[in-house]
Amino acid sequence: RTHLMNKPMPSLIGHRGLPDLAPENTKSSVVTAAKHGIRWVEIDVTMAGDGSLVIMHDPDLRLFGQAETRLVDIGKSELSSIDAGSWFDSNFTGEPLLFLPELLDLVIGHNLGLNLEIKINPDIDMSLQVKAVYQCLSDFHITAENLLISSFDMAALVELRKLDQNIQIGALAQKIPDQTPSELAFIAPVSIHCDQEHLTQEQAAQLKEQYPLYCYTVNSAEKFAQLLSWGVSGIFCDRAHAEDMIAVLTHS
Ligand code: G3P
Ligand code: MG
Repeated sequence: RTHLMNKPMPSLIGHRGLPDLAPENTKSSVVTAAKHGIRWVEIDVTMAGDGSLVIMHDPDLRLFGQAETRLVDIGKSELSSIDAGSWFDSNFTGEPLLFLPELLDLVIGHNLGLNLEIKINPDIDMSLQVKAVYQCLSDFHITAENLLISSFDMAALVELRKLDQNIQIGALAQKIPDQTPSELAFIAPVSIHCDQEHLTQEQAAQLKEQYPLYCYTVNSAEKFAQLLSWGVSGIFCDRAHAEDMIAVLTHS
């Protein structure tokens, strides 16, 4: 198998949608990204106690001021009554949480590429979560080239690769490890994603020979330009619509 992406992700990817303008990981965030001409979004998915796949970053309700409520203890009915918008801005009061099927409908409808990041809920069996996400993806006609799955959980990516030889996988790490993880050859990722904070120019130079490299979360145009000059292929950005970010692309 080659490590080539079918169609590379763009250099500027909306992180959790477009969270500078709309509450992260919601329909408004995705639609706003599309409206601003953003071509790919990175979105987090995790599992609740009843097995439903909800578009959220955390395994609890901390974002909504209820940090003590764990997702494992609730299900779709409780999640459906959450106001996922007013913490961000009163204009978004009543914004509902999305579930994975709705998200897939949305990205297909807006012709967006999707980097779906699986946030393994530590309170639920890992393999069950990977299988459920994969089953849901299989039910949708999302073209393989418009979909890339990533996770910090290497074991989850191994599970996913066992389920599908062809799906595009991005290996996600906060910090690029000194030694290549033993699972990486089996996972055969099309890209590596890492935190820009820890990436050195030397690491970028080495890695880019093997894999396209994407960094999160980059919100400054200067950092974006620097990373591109290091050979980084792209960034996850909270303000991917901003003129100074777009200007980096036209000048690079
Ligand atoms: O997938 C890149 C990035 O989103 C990973 O970190 O915490 O923003 O999901 P986080
Ligand atoms: Mg993420």
